[in-house]
Amino acid sequence: MSIRTEKVAEEIKHQLANILTRYPARAWRDAPLFPTPAGALDALPQRLALADGARLLDAGCGLGHGLRALHRAWPRARVEGIESSLPLALWARRHCRFARVHRGDLWARSWADYALVYLFQRPESMAPALAKARAEMAPGSWLVSLAFAVPDVAADAVLRCPDGRPLWLYRAGPAVSSPAPRRR
Ligand SMILES: C[S@@+](CC[C@H](N)C(=O)[O-])C[C@H]1O[C@@H](n2cnc3c(N)ncnc32)[C@H](O)[C@@H]1O
Repeated sequence: MSIRTEKVAEEIKHQLANILTRYPARAWRDAPLFPTPAGALDALPQRLALADGARLLDAGCGLGHGLRALHRAWPRARVEGIESSLPLALWARRHCRFARVHRGDLWARSWADYALVYLFQRPESMAPALAKARAEMAPGSWLVSLAFAVPDVAADAVLRCPDGRPLWLYRAGPAVSSPAPRRR
């Protein structure tokens, strides 16, 4: 092995050890560490026009990869994250200076002021997430999920990430029901 290859292998080992020690047991159970890839959300702005200064939330922001992908997609939006693990929240806060990172429970925080909530959680999180988005968010706002769909609910749109994974888009805010047909 050349000295350079050895150095690279050492660096990878160091980074892995770093991640493993910083990623606590509860986080592994709640959602495994699969960070959002850098360009995963690049196609979103063509589909969702958000006003400058709109507030976006990465619900369960981990080490901050989703925050970076949101910032890259909408550089003029106000990106926020919430993370239950203290070490991860501190890490994300430190490495994503453009974002506001809260430490707490994504289910306990109100989503009312966000134009978009982004999730990369677990399949079973999706139905409660859409219920929360419909109950709390304003009409015209969006819930976006990487990889996992809301079971038995038709998404409003599905985009493909560069790696082929789906991005599921759901209108948030109160569900719009079609008016009942008039009786004659
Ligand atoms: C798969 S990682 C995704 C990280 C980041 N959103 C990304 O896409 O790169 C899921 C993260 O959600 C966090 N999480 C799980 N349940 C949570 C909860 N109830 N409140 C806040 N964070 C939570 C986990 O600690 C973990 O960091």
